[in-house]
Amino acid sequence: MPDEKSSPPLAVREYRDSDHAAVWALWEASGVMAAPDRAQRDLEFCQASVDNALFVGLRGPRIAATIMAGLDGHRGWFHYVAVDPDHHGTGLGRHMVAHAEKWLAGRGAVKVELMISETNLAVLQFYKSLGYGPEPRVVMSREFGS
Ligand SMILES: CC(C)(COP(=O)(O)OP(=O)(O)OC[C@H]1O[C@@H](n2cnc3c(N)ncnc32)[C@H](O)[C@@H]1OP(=O)(O)O)[C@@H](O)C(=O)NCCC(=O)NCCS
Repeated sequence: MPDEKSSPPLAVREYRDSDHAAVWALWEASGVMAAPDRAQRDLEFCQASVDNALFVGLRGPRIAATIMAGLDGHRGWFHYVAVDPDHHGTGLGRHMVAHAEKWLAGRGAVKVELMISETNLAVLQFYKSLGYGPEPRVVMSREFGS
């Protein structure tokens, strides 16, 4: 795992179409892509909306992290928070979340919401380290037929 001090600093910018292959590889490697067709739909929705953005984090020329931020009119949401496994634990996730928080706050979001499986202790701990805490709510949903 590269050392934060010896690695080039992280540059964050918005996704471009030429990033597609690298982002797909990162999402596959980091396990955030449940299904490629679903991810493609999410990406197209994001690109068509001014209230959604996909950011990539570059270490040198290489895409090492992503975060998708979306505003629902009140709250902000994150999706596809992913760091290249070779770079885990070097502060990239924290940096990407801070970038997306700033972007959302600049668009009037009053808070950020996250949904994390209660058994995913690593991701729970990651967000706790960033100052996030659980809310006493039950998330309910209903799937529409395909
Ligand atoms: C979760 C993930 C984004 C974290 O990114 P990261 O760059 O490794 O995290 P950072 O180095 O920025 O760590 C930030 C803080 O979280 C903590 N943290 C990160 N990963 C952790 C883990 N697996 N277990 C416990 N704490 C963790 C770090 O210790 C650090 O805390 P500190 O600053 O108080 O020391 C990354 O592990 C990942 O891509 N996981 C696979 C995809 C995923 O599960 N995404 C989230 C759901 S969509």
